[in-house]
Amino acid sequence: MFKVSSLTAAVFLATAALTAQAGEVEVLHYWTSGGEAKSIAELKKIMQSKGHVWKDFAVAGGGGDNAATVLKSRVVSGNPPAAAQIKGPAIQEWAAEGVLANLDTVAKAEKWDSLLPKVVADVMKYKGNYVAAPVNVHRVNWVWANPEVLKKAGVAGMPKTYDEFFAAADKIKAAGLIAVAHGGQNWQDFTTFESVVLGVGGAKFYNDALIKLDPKSLNSDTMKKSLETFRKIKGYTDAASAGRDWNLTTAMVMQGKAGFQFMGDWAKGEFLAAGKVPGKDFLCAAAPGTANAYTFNVDSFAMFKLKAADAQKAQGDLAASIMGTEFQEVFNLNKGSIPVRLNMKMDKFDDCAKTSTKDFVDTAKTGGLLPSVAHGMAISPAAEGAIKDVVSQFWNDDKITVADAMKKITSAAATK
Ligand code: GAL
Repeated sequence: MFKVSSLTAAVFLATAALTAQAGEVEVLHYWTSGGEAKSIAELKKIMQSKGHVWKDFAVAGGGGDNAATVLKSRVVSGNPPAAAQIKGPAIQEWAAEGVLANLDTVAKAEKWDSLLPKVVADVMKYKGNYVAAPVNVHRVNWVWANPEVLKKAGVAGMPKTYDEFFAAADKIKAAGLIAVAHGGQNWQDFTTFESVVLGVGGAKFYNDALIKLDPKSLNSDTMKKSLETFRKIKGYTDAASAGRDWNLTTAMVMQGKAGFQFMGDWAKGEFLAAGKVPGKDFLCAAAPGTANAYTFNVDSFAMFKLKAADAQKAQGDLAASIMGTEFQEVFNLNKGSIPVRLNMKMDKFDDCAKTSTKDFVDTAKTGGLLPSVAHGMAISPAAEGAIKDVVSQFWNDDKITVADAMKKITSAAATK
């Protein structure tokens, strides 16, 4: 009798404890492709194992433009999610609205300051307080390739310069295949464009032109050459590329329909989700001319102020989980990125990730480590949007001259 009642009491207490702690986290994200969905599912699993309820708020659309629009309407109506995928300078803009929660208690307890590169920690803080938690480091300046296609076309290896790249592209074209798989959306156009600027002009030029938005650099011979190179690449894409999603574009490389794709390493997540093996079924290399530079794209979740204590508790657990070693490893193995948390073991990661890690560290010392403009890491969202639109207009309309494009980019850069 005694045993039964104490057992009942224990069960009752355990249930009560769980109920008191459990909260709901609504998480807004745009990870809906095969590799992306697998990756975010790992966070859901961890939160559920801590007894919380995960409310998935996925808004389809690579690059996150759709998600940003949906987020605005939710916050304006006074009903923000617990967390949303927001990154770079946009974090500062949201924090300035006074809607983000202070994560310092978690960050101090978990020692985030000593676990993050300073360049990343600074972006996660507003006026010295953490308001967002970073999940990864993506490298943007990659080119992906199908080795079978290269072999069929008689291309010896991954091109290191634009001369080599165009020679390879000619061979692939001559073999009757698409040389460059491209998805025609403005963030995808700009992903290619910024890699071309970096490859043609080098790290200092990229910094002057695309980050400092210096009018002289934006109207220089180097910018002219970058735009000409960018336009030349278009000649190797297929006619159906307009509006195509990035993951369907990656699939073209995977299926051997196309040779190359310029894309960040979330493309690797897509190859991996389809069971492809790096180095065998697909190749990764720094975009031509960019081996000594690294455009980074750090995904992060900003947390919104919530009223209910259980929701706040769940939110704190979400922040701690994101920076935990378990999540940092399994998420990044799936996502194609590398852990943002320092001193993680990399033995389970493939060679593309190992190259990324080494280059991240090396380029940080040489000035080659640069924020990606295409992925919201570098300039104000308003200027970024305006420049992207102009670059896409140039890509889509061969009648726009290079000289005109330079003028338009310069005035778009002044958008406040
Ligand atoms: C990027 C984002 C990546 C990836 C990609 C395509 O901006 O940082 O995590 O998901 O868009 O959706």
